[in-house]
Amino acid sequence: MEKIVILTGAGISAESGLGTFRDKDGLWTRYPLEDVATPQGFARDPALVHDFYNARRSQAAKAEPNAAHHALARLQTDHSGSVVIVTQNVDGLHERAGARVIHMHGQLDQALCHACGHRWPAPQTMAPADPCPSCRAAATRPDVVWFGEFPYWMDEIAGHLEACTLFAAIGTSGQVYPAAGFVQEAALSGARTVEINLEASGMPGLFDEVVLGPATQAVPRWVDSLLAGPR
Ligand code: APR
Repeated sequence: MEKIVILTGAGISAESGLGTFRDKDGLWTRYPLEDVATPQGFARDPALVHDFYNARRSQAAKAEPNAAHHALARLQTDHSGSVVIVTQNVDGLHERAGARVIHMHGQLDQALCHACGHRWPAPQTMAPADPCPSCRAAATRPDVVWFGEFPYWMDEIAGHLEACTLFAAIGTSGQVYPAAGFVQEAALSGARTVEINLEASGMPGLFDEVVLGPATQAVPRWVDSLLAGPR
């Protein structure tokens, strides 16, 4: 029984109109990531960080899942083995396509209190003075993992990588660890590895197979081939 682990990055949401980070005019070419995606940046100017994530939350709410998100949800439903989707994205489009996902970098639509650790559904617009619904401290932040912070669910993800027979990385540049190291972990466990990307990422030679093309075309084709093949 094929055990599939799929890692997705910003490229899977690009055709839903959401920017990637490192492509031409990507988010990190327009915003200094140290100001808006680090605990130090948040401590320096929480209003700037909230504004950045408020804008991304609003954009994500207006976006729609695309054919690639729907194809992965279909694979999870129709594949008789296990299909684990780990996403670096925080846009919520996988779940809105009906998939179950591990959010290793958190979620835009969730808020976190950095005083007491309480989590709750994020309002559309967040501000530094917002009181935590639980401890009332003005200590709320987006529940998104910043650079220098440890991603979520890493023990669970390691277990899936150890057990998988097929690993796919979709729409990620492979620039950020620990996600960029998942392909080697999967290969060490004996899994076949495939990259699906608009152009070969910085991880050439690490994958058994590379499929190039826009996610909305390449991912549905890949899912169809898996569902048509031996289970
Ligand atoms: N179809 C498929 N792939 C695409 C498409 C598309 N339409 N458009 C872009 N891509 C690919 C690019 O070729 C690139 O390899 O998506 C990838 C986007 O790379 P990044 O912008 O680096 O995004 P990602 O890999 O998700 O970044 C990882 O870095 O900044 C942090 O937390 C942030 O989760 C993010 C992490």
